[in-house]
Amino acid sequence: MGQALNGSDVRSAGGGVPLIEELLARMTLVEKAGQMSQLPIFQAETTAQTIDAVREGRVGSFLNAQSVEQRNGLQRVAVEESRLKIPLIFGRDVIHGYKTVFPIPLGQSATFDPALVERAAAAAAAEAHEAGIDWVFAPMVDIARDPRWGRIAESCGEDPYLAARMGAAMVRGFQGPQPGTPGRVAACAKHFAGYGAAEAGREYGTTCIPEQLLREVYLAPFKACVDAGVLTLMTGFNDLNGVPATGNDLLLENILRGEWGFAGFVVSDWGSIVEMVRHGFVEDEPHSAVVAAQAGVDMEMGSGAYANLPKLVDQGRVALRTIDEAVRRVLTVKHRLGLFDRPYAEPRKVSVTLSNEHRSVARELARESIVLLKNEGRILPLGPHVKSIAVIGPQADDPRDQLGCWSFDGEAAASLTVLAALRERCGRDIQIHHAKGVEDCRTHDRSGFGAAIEAAKKADVVLAFVGEPANLSGECRSRAFLDLPGVQQELLECLAEVGRPIVVTVLAGRPLTIGRTCELAQAALYAWHPGTMGGPAIVDLLTGDVAPSGKLPVSFPRAVGQIPIYYNAKNTGRPATSHARGIPIGTPLDPEGFESSYIDVDVTPEFPFGFGLSYSSFEYFDLRVTPSRGKIGSSATIAFQMKNAGDVPGVDVAQLYVRDRVATVTRPVRELKRFERVSLARGETRTIEFALTTQDLGFWGRDMRFTVEPGVFDIFVGGDSRAGLGATFEIE
Ligand code: BGC
Repeated sequence: MGQALNGSDVRSAGGGVPLIEELLARMTLVEKAGQMSQLPIFQAETTAQTIDAVREGRVGSFLNAQSVEQRNGLQRVAVEESRLKIPLIFGRDVIHGYKTVFPIPLGQSATFDPALVERAAAAAAAEAHEAGIDWVFAPMVDIARDPRWGRIAESCGEDPYLAARMGAAMVRGFQGPQPGTPGRVAACAKHFAGYGAAEAGREYGTTCIPEQLLREVYLAPFKACVDAGVLTLMTGFNDLNGVPATGNDLLLENILRGEWGFAGFVVSDWGSIVEMVRHGFVEDEPHSAVVAAQAGVDMEMGSGAYANLPKLVDQGRVALRTIDEAVRRVLTVKHRLGLFDRPYAEPRKVSVTLSNEHRSVARELARESIVLLKNEGRILPLGPHVKSIAVIGPQADDPRDQLGCWSFDGEAAASLTVLAALRERCGRDIQIHHAKGVEDCRTHDRSGFGAAIEAAKKADVVLAFVGEPANLSGECRSRAFLDLPGVQQELLECLAEVGRPIVVTVLAGRPLTIGRTCELAQAALYAWHPGTMGGPAIVDLLTGDVAPSGKLPVSFPRAVGQIPIYYNAKNTGRPATSHARGIPIGTPLDPEGFESSYIDVDVTPEFPFGFGLSYSSFEYFDLRVTPSRGKIGSSATIAFQMKNAGDVPGVDVAQLYVRDRVATVTRPVRELKRFERVSLARGETRTIEFALTTQDLGFWGRDMRFTVEPGVFDIFVGGDSRAGLGATFEIE
């Protein structure tokens, strides 16, 4: 079976792949519904019921096979014992690594390094493929502007351009140059769409997103994944503007397939088809199957609504054409992956799982993901005068938590913690006094404080490792309070009283409100959940072997009440002119000074998008836009000088933002359009160039068409979203 298949075959409407058309012609309705059904596996033992379902063609895919043997066993039944011998496709959540765990996706996004992110996804694909996984449920490219939402950890952050670059890189890494590349897997861009905009950050919450914003912000990363060739998409659990994403034909048929020409298949999220009953959008389970199938959901994950499809077709409630189209898409992806030719997972001659190469990618990615938020008096990197350190806090030596959320397969035993890395690195030169202070991040037990304080007293520097445990972020982990859980903050207050300098490293799955934490410390690093090699990566930065270069992919609020807070917001008619807050007692009720701000907190974020320090400092100057005006369709070069003004080498992420001054739809105060990691030796100056076309300056107009309008655009370059070096470009 199986013949060469190219993209045009796949795209041709109505098929064009003889094998698939032949199969379709022979399939019963039950077998067709089977190809549209994915079942979960919960146990290592395959049940007789499951085997029967495969033999009878009532299932086309499984998620979470427990072993290669189980996978191959089921596949054998499919390709040898079922009537049409159609291979199964096996999926799994491989979100940020398989056994070698990379930083959580939010951390990966902080690297601003799509090439390295692509290498990590390729490594994850190789390990997953070795374990018999054909298809991974990643990347998650939901724009997340609300750190209360636990799944912000799995996202690429708040910005559509950054998330688009990262999502596309992950797709390329997972899938390779073309589907079916040996050692690669199918990717799945999720959750289409708008899921990250859940009201109040509450998991599964309603989303209301005007179409203009939807297209410009929430859909942009999905479009980039489709352009990168992603083979599958997953729908969201959310109700989007009154229509659940899983029953949303505007999204799936009009935009995804109609406008973007997506030729892969769409899978529902787990149970999201039948959940439309509780949304109040459909009456019952069969009705949910009608609506999802007609909206364009080709495969159902986790529930049984699609088992009703044969009956629904007989009743005339679903068109046979709709079913055939869905099955054709599923079979086409199986074909493109080569499953008809190579249905079985075969052991590799040499295993790549947890290989040195993968671990070194994990270390490099973790290093680049960590963001230096503060470094008063240049206390970091730790100098030769440091002879003893106190290592304190629940996150210094927790091999499981550092892996982060959604890492089912990561092994704590393979993790290297900070404490282990410090012990290896410091040898006998530096004394380490280790005391946890608190047993875990959430406890209220203060009985370990005393030992921690004693350890601090003996040390030249206190290294504190605090944060969130892995299981406080990810799915269904919304939080209403974003401070350090438990009594970690109190522990830091006590340590501060000892008087030794404190370097705090926060390991967490989301931005936390850490203003006070940073006040207590001389230096602060944000390490996210850094994965298997998190320990050595953090130590590489603390010791200065590598300078920090991570940049925040999301704004950090000062207080939960500021959320949502993101850099690319719209202006108001009364923008804040000062950061000052507070109204003196007795202030009269007149409109003097009425501005868009808060009376109880500064209007700015604690740390802005794109922000991150280095051990060096960088200067941006001599910005030139050539030409400085042009017609629609033209392009311009934005050139500037970048200087490492410090005395150590370093990397800064040069960022280019634009602002459309006047438009027929109000525009964000800034939008990221380009970035590049630039490595500069000390004292080195280099010219950096970015090319922009007028297309980059367009937006979705009131008529829902993408439009480019004449006018003046501000251009800013610099090291974060407050970049001050400006010039203009005019579209004539
Ligand atoms: C999540 C998906 C995930 C799926 C399968 C769902 O609960 O929303 O992101 O891929 O489960 O595990």
